Amino acid sequence: MNPNCGKVYLVGAGPGDADLVTVKAVKLLRKADVVLYDYLVNKELLDYCHPESELIYVGKKKDKHTYPQEELNELLVHYAQHGKTIVRLKGGDPFVFGRGAEEILKLIEHQIDYEVVPGITSGVAVPAYMGIPVTARHVASSVTFVTGHPASGNDAVDWHAMAKASDTIVVYMGVSNAGRIASELCAGGKSEDTPVALIRWGTYPQQEMLTSTLKSIEYDMQKAGFKPPALMVIGEVVKFSNQLKPLIQSVNTKELIHV
Ligand SMILES: C[S@@+](CC[C@H](N)C(=O)[O-])C[C@H]1O[C@@H](n2cnc3c(N)ncnc32)[C@H](O)[C@@H]1O
Repeated sequence: MNPNCGKVYLVGAGPGDADLVTVKAVKLLRKADVVLYDYLVNKELLDYCHPESELIYVGKKKDKHTYPQEELNELLVHYAQHGKTIVRLKGGDPFVFGRGAEEILKLIEHQIDYEVVPGITSGVAVPAYMGIPVTARHVASSVTFVTGHPASGNDAVDWHAMAKASDTIVVYMGVSNAGRIASELCAGGKSEDTPVALIRWGTYPQQEMLTSTLKSIEYDMQKAGFKPPALMVIGEVVKFSNQLKPLIQSVNTKELIHV
């Protein structure tokens, strides 16, 4: 590693609720010279930064990127080459659909020191805040985390195989393809009555949930005008929400449709 360069920390900010961040992340935010943060990061976390630190928003919404990934990688390299301590703050966990590896490979190429600080991924925490455990004895012994928006196009995921192999399926970035995903899973052997939950801004005070089935999810989403960012949870575990949610969370939850 180049001793004249600073260090980059790829830090998971957790799923939203500012209290779901790690102690290590807070310690690093306190000492960072530069913080580059994403769209889904809770901005309250930036209050941990010291007043002189430089805060740079590098968020990506669907089809609307403040910085293309290549430019963002260059920014990290630039600040590190100026000897700065950098926190690259990413929603959830940096290695779960977070392009963390791509950023690290660029740092390695430039011999820049780095460290990864895992965070709580939304795929587990967001359902949990709605009273949905992603696994449950006798109900779901397997769970798959999958993107609904694969980099190499819509056919990159084998939904038919997943329909057979996984009890619970948690889809990140799946809102715009929800109808297609639901029909692929049914074609692969999942029952049309399999419960589905779509959870928007999970763990934030404004979190919203729409529950439906594979058969009706597309219609119900359109009727409710459901928008991203959201996670889709598919499987019998969704039914736990009725029993567990009131007991687990005090956060307000708007229920759009409950079937
Ligand atoms: C680019 S991925 C990043 C995932 C992140 N690295 C993680 O571990 O949670 C962004 C997607 O994660 C999901 N997501 C992240 N935070 C969420 C939240 N608070 N509520 C609902 N979905 C969320 C959505 O599907 C969103 O489109």
